[in-house]
Amino acid sequence: MAIVFPFDPNIARAETIPARLYNDPVYLELEVERVFSRTWQLAGRLEQVADHGQYFTAEIGPNSIVVLRDGAQLRAFYNVCLHRAGPVATGCGKRATLQCRYHGWTYHLDGSLRATPGMDGVAQFRPDEMHLVPIAVSTWGPLVFVNLDGKAPPLAQVMEDIPQRVAAFGCERMRYVTSRSWDIACNWKVYVDNYLEGYHVPVVHPGLHKELDMDAYRVEPRRFFSVQHAPLRPVHGGTDNRRYDPAKTDTPEAVYVWMFPNVMLNVYLDQMQTNVVIPLGHDRCRVVFDWYAVDPPSDAAHDPEWVKLMAFSAEVQDEDIAICEAVQRNLRSRIYDRGRYSARHENGVHHFHSLLHEFLT
Ligand code: FES
Ligand SMILES: [Fe+2]
Repeated sequence: MAIVFPFDPNIARAETIPARLYNDPVYLELEVERVFSRTWQLAGRLEQVADHGQYFTAEIGPNSIVVLRDGAQLRAFYNVCLHRAGPVATGCGKRATLQCRYHGWTYHLDGSLRATPGMDGVAQFRPDEMHLVPIAVSTWGPLVFVNLDGKAPPLAQVMEDIPQRVAAFGCERMRYVTSRSWDIACNWKVYVDNYLEGYHVPVVHPGLHKELDMDAYRVEPRRFFSVQHAPLRPVHGGTDNRRYDPAKTDTPEAVYVWMFPNVMLNVYLDQMQTNVVIPLGHDRCRVVFDWYAVDPPSDAAHDPEWVKLMAFSAEVQDEDIAICEAVQRNLRSRIYDRGRYSARHENGVHHFHSLLHEFLT
């Protein structure tokens, strides 16, 4: 089977990417190597590594990594011991050194090898020259990103003017509130495709449709990200049946930033929600939502505003999950292979597929 697939950069002529990209596990392996291992991945939060010795672990495809604070330096390494591949860190916590959980080799926080018990008499073994394998790490506001590709452009360059675009919302000052995750029976790209267009909003999300001015909805593709602008609908009469009240904010717009391939920053009403789409298999993914706010509630689970906000997010998410899972089932149908894009509404999806084509082939 051919790995390469046809793709037309002209959306008016283009057909969507073939169904095998969503069904064949071989593409997931390729994506892990060529897409997820070459792009900035949202790995965790800066507050988790605020103090010297604090660390957290994360997974990028099959690669376990550890991010830690070493004085003023933020560092990231593959979480793989140089001896026989044991883990040098688990979960999160605070340590003066990293000790492998297998035979106890220990590493300094800068990754250099500190002690190798029982290794005397081993020929040409030079622990003082050995070092955990480092990974590029970078932050924006409360978020920590890593990139497994040593040659990747810096995060700030990839993000271009995203910081300025969301400056009015105060994202960089925001603090973590809470998280929720969903396991979904669809290929990660089905979820991302769906995220990247507002075309389905009137049909799939009647509740959300009441809040957003879909006539003014637009998607702006850039090099490695795209931005969806959705002005909040003006309120006529009472606001009782509205979840978002544009009069209550200086920023009466929802800005949805997608960073290739799998990170979303949804910014509206003085809060930001990050979504990370993690492939679990060729037909399964996990979507993790983290909420941030300039003024976080002391207890989101019992704060009426937040309970309402999160319930509304869950309602929209459940609608998206139902359609994404139905689409994944139909992508396996013997009669479907490729479709067409709406040139007016699906330029964001076409842009995603063009990046995918660029990275995969
Ligand atoms: S694998 Fe780490 S000490 Fe043996
Ligand atoms: Fe949706």
